[in-house]
Amino acid sequence: MDCASRLTGFAAEFETAFEAALHEKMENAPPRLGEAVRHAALAGGKRIRPFLVHECASLFTSAGQDTRSAAFAIECVHCYSLVHDDLPAMDDDAMRRGKPTVHIAFDEATAILAGDCLLTLAFEYLSSCRDTGPLSAILARASGGAGMVGGQLLDLAAEGRFGGGEAGDTATVIRRIQSMKTGALITAACEMGAITAGASDGQRRALGEYGSHIGLAFQIADDLLDAEGDAAKLGKAVGKDAHAGKATFVGMLGVEGARKRLGETVESARGVLGGLPGNTAMLSDLAGYIATRDR
Ligand code: IPE
Ligand code: IPE
Ligand code: MG
Ligand code: MG
Ligand code: MG
Repeated sequence: MDCASRLTGFAAEFETAFEAALHEKMENAPPRLGEAVRHAALAGGKRIRPFLVHECASLFTSAGQDTRSAAFAIECVHCYSLVHDDLPAMDDDAMRRGKPTVHIAFDEATAILAGDCLLTLAFEYLSSCRDTGPLSAILARASGGAGMVGGQLLDLAAEGRFGGGEAGDTATVIRRIQSMKTGALITAACEMGAITAGASDGQRRALGEYGSHIGLAFQIADDLLDAEGDAAKLGKAVGKDAHAGKATFVGMLGVEGARKRLGETVESARGVLGGLPGNTAMLSDLAGYIATRDR
């Protein structure tokens, strides 16, 4: 089965399990918050990060409850990051996953709180895992100031919002922003999958390295899709990055230059897979899929 079909099948199964898992945790929350969380988390996501958790774990063993919990956790953090990324104070977007963004469907305060709720839920899912300590530490580092949240600040700073971006040469600054805002969570997904399956430290590190390459590839592809993708297929607005003055490889190298860099990054990701056990063909295909996806 090719990677795209396998991901589609996974996403459908994940949707059902995630809905049930959210329902259980949100039962005693105010209904408006529960609805906003459901709006943010359910329907339309590609589920790449939970897929990575499962695929990395499956190199070593078949998926158990800890792998499933780690997959819920990473998707919760990702969905929260999207809700906050879309807020008027950040990228100010009205469409996400083919639906109105949470602050449009509800209101800004509810969107902020739904994001907070999803972030907290992530760690609740990890709290029942055998390796709760290492899993929480990896997810917290990837999500926080040295990871996604820090990257989001640098992304906005590079637009000149706070009086100027980071000092340094442009390629280094862009690489840093991308590895923090997007690469960190994708790397964490791979490492968390490895941990839930009992991989060795060396195997976890190798999968983390694969994750950091495909994380970069993922954001270059996202930036290319912003430049030349189809809003209806993507379920979100396009053509916004250049206008906002975002620091991207597309802005720096142009579409062709970014595409070349994307191809090199996919090859780097594939280069790490040789040292791993099990059938790594799906991870190799996934690197290619990430680069050529149209949504
Ligand atoms: C979008 O992520 C935000 C980025 C980090 C580029 P995805 O493209 O994975 O979004 P969904 O989850 O499929 O909607
Ligand atoms: C988002 O990057 C990264 C995170 C949400 C952490 P973008 O701002 O490019 O993502 P989209 O294009 O809105 O999905
Ligand atoms: Mg953004
Ligand atoms: Mg955005
Ligand atoms: Mg984007």
